[in-house]
Amino acid sequence: MAVRALWYRGGSLHLIDQRRLPARTVVLRLRSVRAVAEAIRTMAVRGAPAIGVAAAYGMALAAREGRFTPERAATILRATRPTAVDLFVGIEAVRRAWANGEDPLAAAEAYRARIVDECHRIGAAGAPLLARATRVLTHCNAGALATVEWGTALAPIRVARDRGAHLFVWVDETRPVLQGARLTAWELERERIPHAVIADNAAGYYLHSGQVDAVIVGADRIARNGDFANKIGTYEKAVVARENGVPFYVAAPWSTFDAGRSTGRSIPVEERAEAEVLELAGRRLAPTRSRARNPAFDVTPARYVSGFVTPEGVVRPSALGRALARRARS
Ligand code: MRU
Repeated sequence: MAVRALWYRGGSLHLIDQRRLPARTVVLRLRSVRAVAEAIRTMAVRGAPAIGVAAAYGMALAAREGRFTPERAATILRATRPTAVDLFVGIEAVRRAWANGEDPLAAAEAYRARIVDECHRIGAAGAPLLARATRVLTHCNAGALATVEWGTALAPIRVARDRGAHLFVWVDETRPVLQGARLTAWELERERIPHAVIADNAAGYYLHSGQVDAVIVGADRIARNGDFANKIGTYEKAVVARENGVPFYVAAPWSTFDAGRSTGRSIPVEERAEAEVLELAGRRLAPTRSRARNPAFDVTPARYVSGFVTPEGVVRPSALGRALARRARS
């Protein structure tokens, strides 16, 4: 059954606490902008499009609380996570409406509807790419949990499967937070889509031994030239895919494209707590005095991308600048 990661009802933002999956499905009810900011920071809600939508509702809750200006509420939410541009797009959509005297909740609802609609169109646009690719590899979670409904990378997989393709999905476990093993596998299992979770360092083996027909991932921020940030480890998969002649696709709604950024060099990369690397499920793995580094994202150069799967179709990196300029004019 299709998943919905978050929804607004009765003055609260409801969201599935992604930290608890797959063991438990716990729904959090958030009634304040600070609670939404904390949920984003601690990754109770995560995934670029989903944090954009959650932040949009956070702005609407701030307006309801009655003690914040639009700018103050936006500042609280912007400070949560730096890499996914969707966060800033979602905040801005509601900040502008609120500052213009429009209804902030209506603006948040409209933003959510736009993202959900774009994810459905990404599914339709990307499914033909997978018509002959029976074995697909994905990294992290770019499914319904990351996008509110349906997904970005998982959307073409869902549509291709519904159209009769016999797909098998290799799911990178995605250390350190395990979005692949915990979340993507959970989504695929619910829909009975055949898959296997693999250790992150096994992807090269499967790509090199001819057992992957295509790679499809989501993104957190895509620069005008097609360089893009995604979950740490994506760069390695892209390089190994190219080395082995396997097409590599990036699926994203328009909110993930940062048309104002010419290349990926200046994309801010979030560094998260050392404990995420040093511990597993709260248990220390490394010696007590060992330190860790924990960049949450890497930036993959555009030359490794076979195509961006957008709501309007598949766009080659070399055509992306023109496509974004056309959108800005329309
Ligand atoms: O740190 P996260 O889990 O919020 O990061 C999300 C990702 O990087 C996902 O891979 C995804 O592709 C972007 S959201 C569809």
